[in-house]
Amino acid sequence: MRIILLGSPGAGKGTQSKLLSSHFHIPQISTGDMLRSAIDKGTPTGRQVKDMMTAGHLVPDDLIIAIVKERLSEKDCTQGFLLDGFPRTVAQAEALCRDGIDIDFVIEIAVDEEEVIKRLSGRWMHPASGRVYHTVYNPPATPGKDDVSGEALIQRPDDQEETVRQRLNVYRRQTEPLINYYQNYSEEKTKCSAPQYIRVDGGRSVETVQEQILSALKKTDVA
Ligand code: AP5
Repeated sequence: MRIILLGSPGAGKGTQSKLLSSHFHIPQISTGDMLRSAIDKGTPTGRQVKDMMTAGHLVPDDLIIAIVKERLSEKDCTQGFLLDGFPRTVAQAEALCRDGIDIDFVIEIAVDEEEVIKRLSGRWMHPASGRVYHTVYNPPATPGKDDVSGEALIQRPDDQEETVRQRLNVYRRQTEPLINYYQNYSEEKTKCSAPQYIRVDGGRSVETVQEQILSALKKTDVA
């Protein structure tokens, strides 16, 4: 069960990944969470990427490819994994294939841009676990506190409207080409197996989006 979740910033990749990861018992690998953790710990990688992330730019392909490659070699990935936020460029997708990592499903969560702005301006997160909330759409039981640990929630520095618009530009330019790449995947050219492509309407409620994903996977006999 090797899944890629594709979608713009704020599409709901993190939210759905957490649900799918617990449904299928496979690890969620969020490159955004890994980079934010490196920043919090003040590692050399964290120091290198901090300004790029705060400005809404992608971090360099070589760096993120090396991080993901190392993570995928860990034991908990042998039965499958869910990639949340990777690949984000065609070069990153090609690197997966070059390493002999076949993907079973690419799930695109499609949401329009104005909805993304609303979602990200109301997002709060629990930094230690990556759990996400929304003041209106998905509020925590106690305002400002994580449901599981009770710890304080924070807002991400790249969720300011201007930076969100910058991230959307980056998505259109660098990540959207992956839709065509995976929808028209050439096994002949890549020498890797073509993943099945699933597209869901991410503009619906969290529960409805999850139902759409599970029902599409069920048709392939895996859910
Ligand atoms: P990353 O952390 O991956 O951010 P992103 O892709 O921009 O996505 P987000 O986390 O903003 O949104 P999401 O789709 O996960 O939505 P969520 O579920 O939280 O990356 C951050 C940065 O790291 C990048 O800008 C880049 O600098 C760097 N980076 C990471 N990976 C990289 C890579 N591979 N290459 C290069 N650079 C990389 O939901 C958003 C909000 O909406 C939440 O409040 C949630 O509660 C709410 N919500 C979710 N679903 C619904 C729904 N159906 N209805 C209503 N509200 C909903």
